[in-house]
Amino acid sequence: MPLVNMAPLLKDARSGGYAVGSFSVANMEMVLGVLKAVEETKSPAIIQIAEVRLNYSPLELIGPLMVAAAKNSPMPVAVHFDHGKAAEKIKQALDIGFTSVMFDGSHLPFEENSRITAEIKKTAAAYGADCEGEIGCVGGSEDGSEDIAINCTSPAQALEFYNKTGVDALAVAIGNAHGNYKQAPKLRFDILEQTAGLVPVPLVLHGGTGILPDDFRRCIKLGINKINIATATFDSVEQSAREAYANQAVKGYYDLQTAEVEGAYRNALKHIEIFGCAGKA
Ligand code: 13P
Repeated sequence: MPLVNMAPLLKDARSGGYAVGSFSVANMEMVLGVLKAVEETKSPAIIQIAEVRLNYSPLELIGPLMVAAAKNSPMPVAVHFDHGKAAEKIKQALDIGFTSVMFDGSHLPFEENSRITAEIKKTAAAYGADCEGEIGCVGGSEDGSEDIAINCTSPAQALEFYNKTGVDALAVAIGNAHGNYKQAPKLRFDILEQTAGLVPVPLVLHGGTGILPDDFRRCIKLGINKINIATATFDSVEQSAREAYANQAVKGYYDLQTAEVEGAYRNALKHIEIFGCAGKA
């Protein structure tokens, strides 16, 4: 059960009442750690990288690695290009074999966001891949470089956006933000419920790091079927490496690599359990 498309994974999640974890990765150790947790729990999963991360992990190197890892996994794994902004980068990901792409036009006026997302949806479809869009504006930014204000999704506009673009999954802004929250997020479950009642495709929750388990579960009940986790993975990998040094477990480079894999594994495992997707592969 190797590389798969995102849409069927999310469709199953919607009918099964769970969410698929979409884990950001930056190197081989993170990919290995996430897929170890996925295999152990027999879960479907998505591995992703955002455009802003490519300065550290060039797409032409990390992309083929992600695709090869998904193909090699006994579990269904989709490979997703997260927060795509430039059409040529999105196309590069599709050429490499990514099975879904996001166009993030959340900062653009509604009409422009709809128009470009619809174009990207067509491009992705020509590759047999899926497309995610965003309506409203999730706070912060994927790599913490910008402090973008939260602009909650309007449910009626979400439906209009869906009708104009035909996206396969829709990211909503309900008080969530990227990065570590300065204070516990107060999610607008009312907006989520109304949006899910109108839009017929699975909804996506960005900014998964720091959301409490019960809030995740409530979001899933109300219509979230894809949850993005980035910062928690990076933090867990760093923490695991620090612990390994503190415990004098690093005798050479390969011990550091093992600690990194372990950090990504632990974080993915924890989220897979919360999202209810263990055993759903
Ligand atoms: P966090 O870094 O808050 O987990 O957000 C991840 C995300 O939404 C990536 O698109």
